[in-house]
Amino acid sequence: MTYEIPGAIEITPLFDSGAKINLFHAASGTSVEIYTFGATVTAWRARTGENSLFLSEKADLSGAQAIRGGIPIIFPQFGNGPLPAHGLARNRDWELVLSEMGPHLPTTVTLKLESNRKTLAIWPHKFLAEYTISLDETLRTELRITNTGDTDFSFQAALHSYFSIADIERVAISDLSTVTYIDKLAALEHKTENNSELRISSETDRVYLNSPNTILVRDETSGTGIAMEKSGFADAVVWNPWIEKSAGMKDLSADDFKKFVCVEAGQIDTPVTLAPGLNWIGIQELQRIDLQPRWGEI
Ligand code: BG6
Repeated sequence: MTYEIPGAIEITPLFDSGAKINLFHAASGTSVEIYTFGATVTAWRARTGENSLFLSEKADLSGAQAIRGGIPIIFPQFGNGPLPAHGLARNRDWELVLSEMGPHLPTTVTLKLESNRKTLAIWPHKFLAEYTISLDETLRTELRITNTGDTDFSFQAALHSYFSIADIERVAISDLSTVTYIDKLAALEHKTENNSELRISSETDRVYLNSPNTILVRDETSGTGIAMEKSGFADAVVWNPWIEKSAGMKDLSADDFKKFVCVEAGQIDTPVTLAPGLNWIGIQELQRIDLQPRWGEI
């Protein structure tokens, strides 16, 4: 069974493990690159070819560790805890199970990850995770978790998007004003966002609770922005490691902290509890926005 569709879906088997999948959407000229390892989207390009997602030049793409950049999937644990950091989904090979395209449809693939002997050894719950990536002018990613076991389980999840930006000090994230956040850098203290435009000038690691479902990341250098629209995910994470933390990360270069900001759709503060047979869906949709004034609008 091949999931390749000429002109829309290309699959390149990788020497180490898994495959790379490239999606093209002819009508909008957009493309996406996905590694089956972690079901990680690593590139999202407009017609002009620029990757709107940051992917570290030092990212390990061999399947040995989670990919630094793109959109890693966090499940069933956010951050540190009894499981490996950010859970078990971002560093396992997912299986491609569906591909679709049509003249008036987005180009779409679905990958799945099922519990197995190795996942059950570290997280004793039977689950099915399905991840559908749909590409047209926008990039829509949908994570569906089903409880395939016979007891309830609880989990956290997030889509850990790394947005590519020209200069972190000329980025504004809006509008999180009045939203309560957990400051991971201040002993998990609860604080309230006072700024309608959040700007980053030092290490930042926050979970905004019950955040608005649309968040705009505006890059003043390029005059472009990305609108992130989420549903199913109550929270949003904003993360940038800044100078010292990135210097300690093997898969980032010294200056990389300037080139990305993570704004993540997440279900973090209140884990989801699923009874046997039930499922939960979280969706993130990304859209590029041109913020340059045009002749006639000035
Ligand atoms: C963010 C967390 O989501 O991911 C941060 O809020 C963490 O605390 C960051 O440092 C990166 O995590 P990792 O495991 O990919 O280095």
